[in-house]
Amino acid sequence: MQIGIIGLGFVGLSFASVLGSKGYPVIGVDTNPEKIKMISNNKAPFFEPKLDLFLKNSLSKSLIISTNTKDTLKKSDIIFLTIGTPKSKDGYIDLSMLKKAAKDIGNSLKNITQKPIIVIKSTVIPGTTDEIQKIIEKTSGKKNGNGFSILTNPEFLREGSAINDTLKPHLVVIGGSEKNSMEKLKKFYEKLYGKKIKIILTNSQTAEMIKYANNSFLATKISFINQISSLCQNIAGTNVDDIAEAIGIDPRIGSAFLKAGPGYGGSCLPKDLSTMIKFSSKIGAEPILLEAVEKINENQIEKIFQIINKRLGKLKNKQIGILGLSFKEDSDDIRESRSIKLIKILLKEKCKIKVHDPKAITNTKLIFKNKIIYSNSISTIIDKADCIVIMTPWKEYTKLVSNDFKNMKKKLVIDTRRIFSKKKMNIEYIALGIGDN
Ligand SMILES: NC(=O)c1ccc[n+]([C@@H]2O[C@H](COP(=O)([O-])OP(=O)(O)OC[C@H]3O[C@@H](n4cnc5c(N)ncnc54)[C@H](O)[C@@H]3O)[C@@H](O)[C@H]2O)c1
Repeated sequence: MQIGIIGLGFVGLSFASVLGSKGYPVIGVDTNPEKIKMISNNKAPFFEPKLDLFLKNSLSKSLIISTNTKDTLKKSDIIFLTIGTPKSKDGYIDLSMLKKAAKDIGNSLKNITQKPIIVIKSTVIPGTTDEIQKIIEKTSGKKNGNGFSILTNPEFLREGSAINDTLKPHLVVIGGSEKNSMEKLKKFYEKLYGKKIKIILTNSQTAEMIKYANNSFLATKISFINQISSLCQNIAGTNVDDIAEAIGIDPRIGSAFLKAGPGYGGSCLPKDLSTMIKFSSKIGAEPILLEAVEKINENQIEKIFQIINKRLGKLKNKQIGILGLSFKEDSDDIRESRSIKLIKILLKEKCKIKVHDPKAITNTKLIFKNKIIYSNSISTIIDKADCIVIMTPWKEYTKLVSNDFKNMKKKLVIDTRRIFSKKKMNIEYIALGIGDN
């Protein structure tokens, strides 16, 4: 069975590399020539643990890289669409790239006799698969279930563990109306993951909504624990991590996504929440809970800023060192990163900013250019700083000890992730969610 994957970002390239490394015949397509060049040279265009290894392995086996959607469509039995669906300026989902690809696919379908299964893996708002189906039908002159078929198959991988999650997902959701194609896709996944993999078959709208419900719940858990963290901050002696550990043991709650911090970022939760809120309003529903979740998330960064402001007083020309730029450790992704947001606020106050991150400096330079100072050395960031803010819990930061901060001008460390033990820090150490500040 020949597979096509259109869009080689975090999702598409991880999927293509895993399939290719297992010897599945795969053609991976992207429209970005720079990405294609890097990928063809065995190098992922972004950092993701194990990805380079899997990419190299898959290119030496059965993965072919291309820019030609038409040709790929002709050759493929199943085509996965893993195209970006970013947040537009008004906070709603931007489906323009997906719709453009649908037109290209429709035009290509006109002249071929094959009947590919087109699978939307991108995150899309309920009703999108129907819309994409209509675009393909209009441009191709063919009907779903006849000249092609279309299914929805949302992706649940996490950046930072994309390869592991692609190798072993917790769930596969297949949405559609065309039973034969759904059965074929189900068989494809059973062959890939074994018969024990949990597969849910439903219609497209429900499959689309499952992804949003999933991410909305995860964001709710994060904002919930951040709300508790804010309360702890004002109750002397409380520690949010002990509370999270205790409530996480309750099987009705579960321990995942109960890590208090600067708020959720990345390419998924912020955009999916914002889209869900706008979508709810569009269909006449009131998204009370989701609005609160988003508001708590936005407030987190303001709270961190207020702590810095309260401790340092006048902020102009104060030297602030930021440790961690990516939205999470083991990733170079800075999309919607809380760090970036904090830096923007501090720059408005005319602070002098120095930043460190093991992987995300190149991406950050594209935003701030020469407005801030970048360093690969943690001690350079600490040196003469008025304040250090730990934003991303990279492993290398956890190895720092109190003495490593001795060359700061004012010895103030604000730790949004609580990576140190307060007892061992004989400097002013403020940990978000620990109530003795
Ligand atoms: N990143 C994640 O952790 C994650 C997890 C689950 C779901 N998703 C969803 O999966 C989708 C893809 O996300 P991503 O993070 O991989 O996006 P991305 O922005 O990293 O990659 C998308 C790729 O699509 C390519 N592209 C755009 N139009 C194209 C076209 N017409 N033909 C071929 N390629 C085209 C772009 O050049 C880009 O390389 C999104 O809908 C996202 O919400 C992402």
